[in-house]
Amino acid sequence: MRNDVIDKIKARYEIVGFDERLEAALNTALQVAPTDLSVLVTGESGVGKEVIPRIIHDNSPRKTKRYIAINCGSIPEGTIDSELFGHEKGAFTGAISDHDGYFAAANGGTLFLDEVGELPMSTQARLLRVLETGEYIRVGSNEPRKTDVRIVAATNVQIQKAISEGRFREDLYYRLCTINIKLPPLRERGDDVVRLFKKFAQDTAAKYKIPVPLRLTPDAEQVVMAYKWPGNIRQLRNVVEQMSILRKEERIVTPEVLEQYDVVPNSSSTQVATMGNPAGHHFDYDKERAIIFGMLNQLANDVKSLKEASVYPAQDDAFAHGHLLGPSPATLSVVAGEHKDAAADDYDEVTPLPSDADGIHQVGTFHHQDSAVMNRVGGNEGAGSSRYIDVDAEVLDDDVDLNLERLEKKTIEEALRRNRNRRKLAAVDLGISERTLYRKIKDYGLEE
Ligand SMILES: Nc1ncnc2c1ncn2[C@@H]1O[C@H](COP(=O)(O)OP(=O)(O)OP(=O)(O)O)[C@@H](O)[C@H]1O
Ligand SMILES: [Mg+2]
Repeated sequence: MRNDVIDKIKARYEIVGFDERLEAALNTALQVAPTDLSVLVTGESGVGKEVIPRIIHDNSPRKTKRYIAINCGSIPEGTIDSELFGHEKGAFTGAISDHDGYFAAANGGTLFLDEVGELPMSTQARLLRVLETGEYIRVGSNEPRKTDVRIVAATNVQIQKAISEGRFREDLYYRLCTINIKLPPLRERGDDVVRLFKKFAQDTAAKYKIPVPLRLTPDAEQVVMAYKWPGNIRQLRNVVEQMSILRKEERIVTPEVLEQYDVVPNSSSTQVATMGNPAGHHFDYDKERAIIFGMLNQLANDVKSLKEASVYPAQDDAFAHGHLLGPSPATLSVVAGEHKDAAADDYDEVTPLPSDADGIHQVGTFHHQDSAVMNRVGGNEGAGSSRYIDVDAEVLDDDVDLNLERLEKKTIEEALRRNRNRRKLAAVDLGISERTLYRKIKDYGLEE
């Protein structure tokens, strides 16, 4: 595609940057726009995925029809099928009349399914059906209806991991991903970060009528290029806005100023630590924090489900997703695979945590102890992945619950503080979905 076409797109959608992979992404969007192919946009949180489906729609023959963007992660599981596919009167309590869903509303147009990795399994099955047959069924109906909708989806979750853990259908992934548009993280876009800084400084100055926009010193430019920007362009924009407003008198941004906003080059971008992983992959602190939080979260759930389940098989699939607990004061012991009976020998078991798309592995060592209770906790029976858990009686002590809850609450509070109350960033920081974070904020009464 000729550069001037890409330049026009950049100007129209206020996209800043000359990064090759960014330009390739825009190029692909324009090339696939006239077709009906499904597109999956991938990239970390805040990299600018949302503009891609808009470009595709605006440059397609569907542009005169509706473009509807849906955030799959923010619709409660109980209502998502009805919102997407509609429902019949009487389908459930409160369904007082027939209701058209987004698939009906977007007929002839484009549906953007943002955070598609958050779709519940039942909804994934319905979506696959529309993609394959162009037909959908309203909740509470048996009658298939036709729709002509072009789907563009986006995800920032490591979808391969979701697939391997059985949370996302592989067949749906391939169906959605006919074309994959990948957006690079900000830390890999070289000096685009400085261009973006300038753009946001100018935008903020114009918006708040500040006569002179912020300006980076040469040293500070190096810092913003070296910093990791875990929240990518969204985080950069927020930092620039905050600095513009809070430092109205001072227009020069030095490395010291950036430090006050936690923009420090070696805080996470350049410093990596290797954990004991067999492949020797690098491991960074942000991911470590997310993994530890995930473990904590899982530990709380597991203790809860063990208490509920006592010696009965649990429905809870606490271990079905392969999250294993690291050594805890309670010393949990987990065996994957073959059945083991309650008289199992002592053993040291090294069980790998699931790897993510970057190939990060973490290994935890779990020590067996004389077990007072052996519970079966598993959601994948028959798949050769039944898992057993031995638990010391003390684990079931209420104090453990309480301490875990306190720890989890504190971790969430800190993530919110670190991200200046921006829940989207805090969720990324913690490695959980926005929906889960909202629920936990509510559960712990952390709403402002
Ligand atoms: N190249 C760019 N030039 C200018 N602004 C950009 C660029 N890329 C992203 N932005 C801005 O950054 C912000 C974040 O982008 P966006 O909301 O599309 O992120 P995302 O990839 O959808 O993130 P998430 O996965 O968290 O939803 C938006 O305000 C967007 O306008
Ligand atoms: Mg988004």
